[in-house]
Amino acid sequence: MAVFKFDIRSLFPQPIVKVDSSLLPHTFHGNRRQALEVTAKMSAIIDHLGQLSAIAQKLNIPITTAQKLRKSDNQIVYLMADLAELNSGRGDEVVGLLKIGMKDLYLFDELGQSRKVDNAPCILDFYVHDKRQRSGLGKKLFQTMLSEEKWEPVKCSVDRPSEKLLGFLKKHYGLEHVIPQANHFVLYDGFFEHDKANEQPHEMTRSRRMLMANRYF
Ligand code: ACO
Repeated sequence: MAVFKFDIRSLFPQPIVKVDSSLLPHTFHGNRRQALEVTAKMSAIIDHLGQLSAIAQKLNIPITTAQKLRKSDNQIVYLMADLAELNSGRGDEVVGLLKIGMKDLYLFDELGQSRKVDNAPCILDFYVHDKRQRSGLGKKLFQTMLSEEKWEPVKCSVDRPSEKLLGFLKKHYGLEHVIPQANHFVLYDGFFEHDKANEQPHEMTRSRRMLMANRYF
């Protein structure tokens, strides 16, 4: 049964589209009138999937809405449709959402040293339709995002991951060993490796102070 009052097929020329603050899919070509029509439809889809994600995560307020995306500078929502289901007129049309972004974060490294990381890649919201989970759709969506953004899983910070997402990251990417943080982001061992360029030490830890002091004796 169709969830939306409009036909979404023209919005999904391919199974996965990405949408930024313009609220237009990256595949869009058209005039101003068509752009207005498409942004209205995309907004309805994003709001609906954002709502389903919030329900699945037992959140009072959705993390993803069209309005929040419109106001963001560097967030992207990936949406996935099942084109076979769509063309047959069955099923739940849009089956997944993944919102990502870049944030400046204060984080602890493996030694417990506080660092400011500019433009840290963040996984902000991730949802696959309840009836379609555990059939590999999440992996397809995540994998598409990684290759589009040229991100490595171990370099992603994850905002308040659910148990399902922790299981997903462990299963598909072997991510298991967490670097403890004071905030709600989860990072994995390897996050700081070979990437000191974007980091600024924020505050010296005792071990680092001792290391520095020892240089002079
Ligand atoms: N219970 C435990 N682990 C699960 C579950 C579940 N119900 N569903 C998926 N997983 C994990 C498991 O590791 C599973 O492997 P397994 O079946 O062999 O145990 C693996 O994910 C399956 O991988 P996919 O099929 O590729 O992933 P899926 O399509 O299920 O999508 C997702 C993963 C997005 C986490 C999905 O389960 C979902 O939408 N969950 C509900 C919403 C949610 O918790 N989202 C994350 C919120 S936190 C955030 O977004 C930062």
